[in-house]
Amino acid sequence: MAHEDNPAYQALITRRSGNARALVAPGPDKNALAAIILAASRAPDHGRLVPFRFLSIAEGARDRLATLLEAASRALNPDLPTPEIERAREKAYQGPAIVAVIARIENHPKIPVSDQWLTVGCALENMLIALQSLGFAAAIRSGKFLETAPMREGFSLGANEHLVCLVAIGTATEFPPEKPKPALEAVFGIWNG
Ligand SMILES: Cc1cc2nc3c(=O)[nH]c(=O)nc-3n(C[C@H](O)[C@H](O)[C@H](O)COP(=O)(O)O)c2cc1C
Repeated sequence: MAHEDNPAYQALITRRSGNARALVAPGPDKNALAAIILAASRAPDHGRLVPFRFLSIAEGARDRLATLLEAASRALNPDLPTPEIERAREKAYQGPAIVAVIARIENHPKIPVSDQWLTVGCALENMLIALQSLGFAAAIRSGKFLETAPMREGFSLGANEHLVCLVAIGTATEFPPEKPKPALEAVFGIWNG
C-alpha cells in the first residue's frame, strides 16, 4: 500500500490541534475515552517504567478545577487583573471532555529522565492521533500554572509527579489557522561518519 493510501500514515500527517474555545459536544464517551487512553499507554517505554498517568476531569469537578486554575494564576501573580483571572478559569470549561496528563519521573539508575519524558510525549501524541482518528479534536493547555502549589495539591501529585498539560477534547467547529510545518530537508539529513 502506498503511504498516501495508508490510513495510519494519513492520521499522522493530518494531525492538527482544534481551537480550545470551539470544541463542542459530542466529546468521547466513556468507551471512546478508554480507547484513547489505551492507545496513549502503548507509547514506547524504556525500562517499562510507565512514566505517565491520566485523569479525566469529572463533569461535576469543573468548578473546582476553575477554582484551582484561579488560585494557580494568583500564586504566579498576586496582582492579576480580572480578565486574566477569567482567562485562567475558562480553561476548566473548554471542551466536553478534559484529560489531565501527569508524568511520573523517577531517578532511575539506568533509565535517564529524558527517556522517561520522551515516553510521556509519545503517550500524548498517541492520544492525539487516536482521538483524531475517532473523529474528535483536541487542544493542549500547559504553562507554569501547572507546577504551582494549588495545582499540585489539588491533583494530589506525588513528589516525582508533574502535571504536564490539560487536553480539552471534543468535536471541532473551527480550527486555528494551519501552523507552518518544517520542510523535510530541515529535519532530515545523512550522517557520513
Ligand atoms: C506539551 C505541550 C504543551 C502545549 N501547550 C500549549 C498551550 O498551552 N497553548 C497552546 O496554544 N498550544 C500549546 N501546545 C501546542 C499546540 O498544542 C499545537 O501542537 C501547536 O500550536 C501546533 O499546532 P498543531 O497541533 O495544529 O500542529 C502544546 C503542545 C505540547 C506538545
